[in-house]
Amino acid sequence: MNVGVIGAGTMGRGIAQTVAQYNEKVVLVDISTDILESAKKEIRNSVRMQAFYNKALKGIKPDEVIERIIFTTDYALLAECDFIIENVPEKLEIKIGVYEQLEKVSNPSAYYAVNTSCIPVTEIAALTNRPDKVIGMHFMNPVPMIEAVEIMKGFHTSKETIEAALKLLKAINKHGIIVNDYPGFVSNRISHLMMNEAAFIVQEGEASIENVDDIFKKCYGHKMGPLETADLIGLDTVVDSLDVLFGQYKDTKFRCCPLLRRMVAAGHCGRKSGQGFYGYNG
Ligand SMILES: NC(=O)c1ccc[n+]([C@@H]2O[C@H](COP(=O)([O-])OP(=O)(O)OC[C@H]3O[C@@H](n4cnc5c(N)ncnc54)[C@H](O)[C@@H]3O)[C@@H](O)[C@H]2O)c1
Repeated sequence: MNVGVIGAGTMGRGIAQTVAQYNEKVVLVDISTDILESAKKEIRNSVRMQAFYNKALKGIKPDEVIERIIFTTDYALLAECDFIIENVPEKLEIKIGVYEQLEKVSNPSAYYAVNTSCIPVTEIAALTNRPDKVIGMHFMNPVPMIEAVEIMKGFHTSKETIEAALKLLKAINKHGIIVNDYPGFVSNRISHLMMNEAAFIVQEGEASIENVDDIFKKCYGHKMGPLETADLIGLDTVVDSLDVLFGQYKDTKFRCCPLLRRMVAAGHCGRKSGQGFYGYNG
């Protein structure tokens, strides 16, 4: 299967790596050559880790994986892809531009998977001439390490499209958990409330960043606390997602904590920027 991946940021690079690790060919498209370069570097390092930790991928070589990926800014190369996974920022106006471009170049039989945190898949499908071939695939970060993907069935998503998505997941050693298409789906309707409330707690001085996270790790036994998770996702993506949830449900429980917005405005977007609730510069 030829897989197209649009957006080479946090998610797109992880998906491109995972797909290429299991012998599939990938076209990875971004608007920035710098981001494509940094994706190549990060994929190389991450494959080394996989060769070490993942029994199924023991001995896998970074160069072999990189060779299966075309890193490009040219959308036209997506014409050869059977399955295209979109991972551009969580802003509807950006996604609209991407699907406009994609419709001009893609094969009419290609499936589209939307990797979104909160935007309803049915709204994205309505931007295309193939709503039955559009599905939501909510991969989790870091993609190579996570065993399952939340699958969102849009209003018009066909059975054939669900089968194609599950087949691709099986080929890359993951499985899908299928849900219906409501803003934020299951995962982010719940997790973003927790991350947002954790930010309010820090803003109000009720507890330190470390103590908030420790309560979840040491009392509840979670692998990560909500603020570490927000840093991992990217605070800009968390803010955009809360804005989508608030806009869709018009429920004040989704109003974004001002501290999160202030950190993003200051460029403290979490791991990817080197600073968020925690520092990541060595
Ligand atoms: N970060 C997470 O943990 C996470 C998890 C699941 C889903 N998501 C969702 O996945 C999507 C991508 O999130 P991310 O965290 O990877 O964002 P990101 O900001 O890290 O990466 C987005 C990438 O898209 C590129 N881009 C922007 N406009 C483009 C265009 N017109 N064509 C091609 N590329 C373009 C940017 O240059 C950037 O590299 C969002 O919808 C997000 O909500 C994120």
